[in-house]
Amino acid sequence: MSDDLRFEPLNSTHPVAAFVCSKPPLHDYLRKHALQNSATGYSGTMVAVEPAGRIVGYFSLCPVSVTCAELPSEEVKGMPKYPVPGVLLAKMAVHIDVAGKGLGTRLLLLAMREALAIPPSIKWRFFVVDAFDAEVVPFYTRFGFKALPGNPLRLYMGVKMVTKAVQI
Ligand SMILES: CC(C)(COP(=O)(O)OP(=O)(O)OC[C@H]1O[C@@H](n2cnc3c(N)ncnc32)[C@H](O)[C@@H]1OP(=O)(O)O)[C@@H](O)C(=O)NCCC(=O)NCCS
Repeated sequence: MSDDLRFEPLNSTHPVAAFVCSKPPLHDYLRKHALQNSATGYSGTMVAVEPAGRIVGYFSLCPVSVTCAELPSEEVKGMPKYPVPGVLLAKMAVHIDVAGKGLGTRLLLLAMREALAIPPSIKWRFFVVDAFDAEVVPFYTRFGFKALPGNPLRLYMGVKMVTKAVQI
């Protein structure tokens, strides 16, 4: 993998058809749905691109809401009874050729920075991850993400901890 990656919003010139990861639904999403979802406003996708143009990773973000009923009791003190806003890392994957070389970590931290860069007039309280399957959950928990009780594939981190996490 080149050290000289660009991280940019997905557009129609990116060669999505050549992207292959170890979980086919996640490369199918990039190939078939991500650009359309960006155009229609359902989610935004950032891609990591090598100088030669190959996509080696991506993530997709969108808004989410979290309710008191979903959270553990220690998190709900002072929370309103209505759903509170969050940013959802809905999808993330790296190319099979570059797995295990640190790109997943770089993408996760960039996704958090993108969330923190939302203008301060728009607030969010939780950064939420939909883990693709149980196998990938430990990748997120090592950063401090916790599973929502009753939903082991939906992980969360409060905004204060996200601010600390991006400083590593
Ligand atoms: C999960 C994924 C994004 C991680 O990306 P990556 O570039 O391989 O991860 P990194 O190289 O940054 O790994 C960082 C650390 O996490 C660990 N790690 C990587 N994948 C892991 C997994 N599935 N479970 C537990 N730990 C994992 C690595 O061993 C590494 O640990 P170390 O620092 O002690 O060596 C990548 O493996 C992937 O695309 N998998 C297929 C798609 C998928 O499952 N996506 C998750 C969507 S929610």
